[in-house]
Amino acid sequence: MKNKVNLLFEEINQFATENSEALEQFRIRFLGRKGLLQDLFEEFKTLSNDQKKEVGQLLNQLKNAAQDKINQLKESVEGSASSEQADIDLTKPVMFREAGTRHPINLVRNEIIRIFARLGFTVSEGPEIEDDWHNFSALNFPPEHPARDMQDTFFIEKDPDIALRTHTSSVQIRTMETTKPPIRAIFPGRVYRNEAISARAHCFFHQVEGLYIDKNVSFADLRQTLLYFAKEMFAADTQIRLRPSYFPFTEPSAEMDISCNLCGGKGCGFCKYTGWVEILGCGMVDPNVLENCGIDSKVYSGFAFGMGIERTTNLKYQVKDLRMFSENDIRFLRQFESSF
Ligand code: DAH
Repeated sequence: MKNKVNLLFEEINQFATENSEALEQFRIRFLGRKGLLQDLFEEFKTLSNDQKKEVGQLLNQLKNAAQDKINQLKESVEGSASSEQADIDLTKPVMFREAGTRHPINLVRNEIIRIFARLGFTVSEGPEIEDDWHNFSALNFPPEHPARDMQDTFFIEKDPDIALRTHTSSVQIRTMETTKPPIRAIFPGRVYRNEAISARAHCFFHQVEGLYIDKNVSFADLRQTLLYFAKEMFAADTQIRLRPSYFPFTEPSAEMDISCNLCGGKGCGFCKYTGWVEILGCGMVDPNVLENCGIDSKVYSGFAFGMGIERTTNLKYQVKDLRMFSENDIRFLRQFESSF
């Protein structure tokens, strides 16, 4: 029996592998339930007491030697598992990971941000869940004033003071409350209105708000800033026109049209044969709004504007149905990335 054991010592000492399968075979051969050591211990029971003393020790040493070997080889086997992965078959076809594209709304938003950044406008954001003060009251919407009806609002049932913001103009207020002029910033974001969903209206959409407050800011600054934007966004020969309008938070207020970028202003179905298409609302910030935010309206003046990103995207790409922006149809969404 001693001879047999010595041979096994030899075998254990010489054993080497980097293969996990072979190591497992080795473990089963020596330490498995029907393995060699198990057999030897069975045989051991038949020995005389004298022999037991000597062989018992030897068997324990053999068992430890086998276990040590396994522990030692395990490390190199695990190490080589990762190098086995590196051993890749370069002739295999590539697994193609589809990258997707940016959403057209994000592309246009980013373009708007880039254009205004060139004029020194910074970007910030505000919350989509707003209180009455920031969405309405501070913007000069008096309580019960019909102007509030201009925007169908989603209120929180338990607290009429809380609503989903109906426009990004709320971020003007948050900015003016916390920042000393001069302020030159734009505020992109999602807004919500309680509208029946159709090709032309949705219960959520996106806007970019702009605000410029400093000493001696005039309507001419507003006009020139927005003309620059229109030319950069659409085409170098784009014209703008400002029509008098009404917003509670600006005085005077205007709606801005751009010359129709489809027919170049000659008149077509898209511009309803007027040569012009509406793009945004704007005006000089009402002194009441400045005062509501703690800005001295005798020292400072400024202009603001707000545009819909969906609307701007439609003007650029003639998307006929607003719902396509939120339907996640990649055949639609894929078409835009390359145009920037
Ligand atoms: N908040 C307006 C809307 O959602 C858009 C707007 C008009 C924003 C005039 C302005 C502005 O900042 O001066 O219809």
